[in-house]
Amino acid sequence: MTTHEWGGMRGFLAAVAVMAMAAGCGGQDRAGSAPPAAGAPASDLTPFQLEHGIGPLTEVLTLGPLDQGLADSGQKVFGAKCTACHKMAEKYVGPALGEVLVRRSPTFTMNMILNPNEMVERHPVAKEMLAEAMTMMANQGLTTGDARAVVEYLRTQATGTVKTQ
Ligand code: HEC
Repeated sequence: MTTHEWGGMRGFLAAVAVMAMAAGCGGQDRAGSAPPAAGAPASDLTPFQLEHGIGPLTEVLTLGPLDQGLADSGQKVFGAKCTACHKMAEKYVGPALGEVLVRRSPTFTMNMILNPNEMVERHPVAKEMLAEAMTMMANQGLTTGDARAVVEYLRTQATGTVKTQ
């Protein structure tokens, strides 16, 4: 084998090695990405559940005039049980909550507070939030009354128009 021929052979071997590596990587990529879901199952939720969430509240809660005393007690609950994961104006572990009542109904908000596990498992909106946060909201074991007080407090934090039902 002349020097010239050997050089050509080395080039050929190198090319084979590169191709083998590329094929190996490609194989890993294909194994890593899940196949596209074949038609997501139709939602099993009722129209009420889609708008107001899944949980202990099964009737639409209507907010009356602001109750500042209730909002104050809600602020205490929020400070003790929620600030580890939520801020008002920016995303933290969970979504920013300052405008939550502008985007969600009070009933949805209470069901999310009182029943977060089932919400992230079954409700499309909550599932999407979980996908974004990549952390599960922990059920803080609030009473319905405490959750209602927190909603009153959240009302005072919004700058947009709050949904009253
Ligand atoms: C361990 C962290 C954690 C704690 C504590 C926590 N949350 Fe959450 N919260 C989350 C995450 C994360 C989400 C998004 C859904 C998910 O990933 O489970 C969320 C979602 C929410 C939502 C839905 C927001 C929307 O845009 O619809 C509300 C309302 C909410 N939390 C209220 C509260 C309240 C009130 C408390 C206190 C009683 C609380 N959370 C305590 C992490 C937490």
